[in-house]
Amino acid sequence: MGKSMTDMVDSLEINGILPDEEMRELLKFRNKEITKYIFDKAYAVKEKYYGKNVYIRGTIEMTNYCKNDCYYCGLRRSNRFIPRFRLDEDDIMQFCDSGYKKGVRTFVLMGGDDYSFTENRVSKLISMIKDRYNDCAVELCLGERPSETYVKWFQAGADRYLLWHEAAGENYFRKVHPPDMSLLKRKQSLWELKRIGYQVGSGFMVGMPYQMVANVIEDLNFLKALEPHIIHLTPFIPTAHTIYESERSGNGEMTIYLMAILRLMLPRTLITADPALENVMADARKKAFLAGANEVFASITTDEIKEYYNVYNKKLSRRNTLGDEVSKMRLKIEESGNIAPSDKGDYNFPNEQETLYGKVHNIM
Ligand code: 5AD
Repeated sequence: MGKSMTDMVDSLEINGILPDEEMRELLKFRNKEITKYIFDKAYAVKEKYYGKNVYIRGTIEMTNYCKNDCYYCGLRRSNRFIPRFRLDEDDIMQFCDSGYKKGVRTFVLMGGDDYSFTENRVSKLISMIKDRYNDCAVELCLGERPSETYVKWFQAGADRYLLWHEAAGENYFRKVHPPDMSLLKRKQSLWELKRIGYQVGSGFMVGMPYQMVANVIEDLNFLKALEPHIIHLTPFIPTAHTIYESERSGNGEMTIYLMAILRLMLPRTLITADPALENVMADARKKAFLAGANEVFASITTDEIKEYYNVYNKKLSRRNTLGDEVSKMRLKIEESGNIAPSDKGDYNFPNEQETLYGKVHNIM
């Protein structure tokens, strides 16, 4: 007799990995019972490493210029229908100030691949923020740069770097990106960022055109090997003026299910519940908090900037998130029975004994 789905989840929890055939079964035959079983386990594991904490990351969308042309993304350079903007240093510092007053202790500098934010310019910005707020983390989400730049920014004080791998399989990566993008380069950047000492974030979109179960398994296995400190999954959202504008959205429940699976694969990881979830499912982030997600983005800029930062269409989420996102997010977190501390919320690094001798052994 074959293994039951609950046996598979148990073994995933114990071993942190499943043979591909079993993972395929978990993904293909998802049902109510197994979903509840895995969500409860994922929440318990999150609680073990992070307690009731769910961290709010204050995002500053600082440029929507992008040199890339990814087929799915609203910021792609060939989209001539969106107005482009860049913030300057004064704006950014002002948003940090107001974010800080709201209790934000992680500032995420986010943008397209925009080289007018030069290595030097961003270094200065990072130092300025770190000088003013020594109890805060600076998290960068600024795309691919030469490794010297990653080093400079780390030396300037940046703590974390977010760079989604998007698609771990070569063929599938090729289908959804233009020929000038390289999966190998993306993966090399991620390993390099880890080596430099950043807390590194990676992830992928769920329900993308052409994505098959086998691709999702490749993505899970890649994340398991990389062991990023932060994992970010979002449902795919068809976006106006992109190649996939008339495709179907990704499934919200499936996205959260994959978050729960990843929580069991990489128990210490910070897992982000993306605002895009609300586009496909009501109250989705609250559900994600109960399935192992433990961080969330809240914009600390203005409604106008958020609107221009049109990575994906925001019809639904815009209605939900106008106004002060930080206090709204705090409320959502509390409604889910968790808390949102004013704390930079670093990755829960294992201590020396755990890494050298394995968690369960007492070395004395
Ligand atoms: N749907 C959802 N998320 C998107 N992103 C870009 N385009 C889309 C889309 N169509 C987000 C994803 C991706 C990052 C570059 O922007 O998180 O990883």
